Amino acid sequence: MRFAVIGSLGWAGSRHVKALQELGHDIVALVDPGAGCADQAATVGAKAVASFDALDLDSIDAACLALPPHLHPDLTRRLANAGKHVLCEKPMAPDTAEARELVEFAASVPVTIMPGYLLRTNPHIRGFHDALRGMGELRRVHISTNVRKPSMAGWRSEPVIGGALLVNAIHQLDLASWFTGEMLTPRFAQLDNVHFDAPTEDLFFTSMVSPSGVTASVLSSWSPNPPILSDGLMITDAGKLRIEAETDGGSIVLTATGYRINGTDVDIPGVVGVNQFAREIEHFVDVIENGTPLLVTVEDNWKVQKLIEDCRAAAIAPAGRVANRAA
Ligand SMILES: NC(=O)c1ccc[n+]([C@@H]2O[C@H](COP(=O)([O-])OP(=O)(O)OC[C@H]3O[C@@H](n4cnc5c(N)ncnc54)[C@H](O)[C@@H]3O)[C@@H](O)[C@H]2O)c1
Repeated sequence: MRFAVIGSLGWAGSRHVKALQELGHDIVALVDPGAGCADQAATVGAKAVASFDALDLDSIDAACLALPPHLHPDLTRRLANAGKHVLCEKPMAPDTAEARELVEFAASVPVTIMPGYLLRTNPHIRGFHDALRGMGELRRVHISTNVRKPSMAGWRSEPVIGGALLVNAIHQLDLASWFTGEMLTPRFAQLDNVHFDAPTEDLFFTSMVSPSGVTASVLSSWSPNPPILSDGLMITDAGKLRIEAETDGGSIVLTATGYRINGTDVDIPGVVGVNQFAREIEHFVDVIENGTPLLVTVEDNWKVQKLIEDCRAAAIAPAGRVANRAA
């Protein structure tokens, strides 16, 4: 399949490029205004394109979008209206209203539009989910990430599109919704700065409940020295995603190689060191070529963006920046 990667020099975009290469797809064009685009394109035999307007849409079948999130809706529409399939990084829109409009839009076009929640297609997380499903009624789930960030520079600290909530907790809130299978309501949320003096939070915590009474809590933090515990899935270069759940049939914890169910370790073969971006693209292509149902949809993206809005509305007042508290 012929691909373009838009935002190819970024953290996520460069990983989409590597994954497409690993899978042997034809990378036709890399679109990024950054200085290294020509060199990057040369390494994969693609054309370097400085702006989306200069991209020859006839030359591609599909595109990966990995941009500052406010740019996602317009380019998703332009690609899909030109008959191109779109894998768009999360969040697909800067706010809930635009995320909702994209749900209707996606239903109106004859192409595949998939949001980039790569944990949904990760075989480790899918194995955990299947085991959880087999354990009877879910009662409680707790999901946490502590991610290493030496600083909060760049767009990640901007109020509308950054912060630990929108950048990282969005994945965990999506998992919480998927595991419970119900709309969640925050009973409490906390947005604070523990390590960095920045316009957005480096710590997010929420405690939520579903209509049937399942409780879900999510903790997401950025710090220079995150604790790295032995259980869980390594994400980025340092920092673990940890999941623990209680059901009528006992307890389950995500481990480094599978899960621990009622105290017994179960390994899932082939999940250690898996290229999550490659698994995500593999699924995207399978949906396009074979009509396999999407494992994560534009509606799922809207649900999690709505949950983020609800968490912000439920948030208690920040405790103040580190510097203020020290004074
Ligand atoms: N799935 C994941 O695990 C994951 C991880 C990180 C980021 N993301 C998501 O990916 C998106 C990008 O994040 P990032 O961390 O890669 O950001 P980044 O800042 O590292 O990269 C963004 C890239 O987009 C380019 N760009 C900006 N405007 C452009 C335009 N108009 N046309 C083409 N290119 C343009 C920039 O030059 C830059 O190279 C965000 O939505 C983010 O939430 C997802």
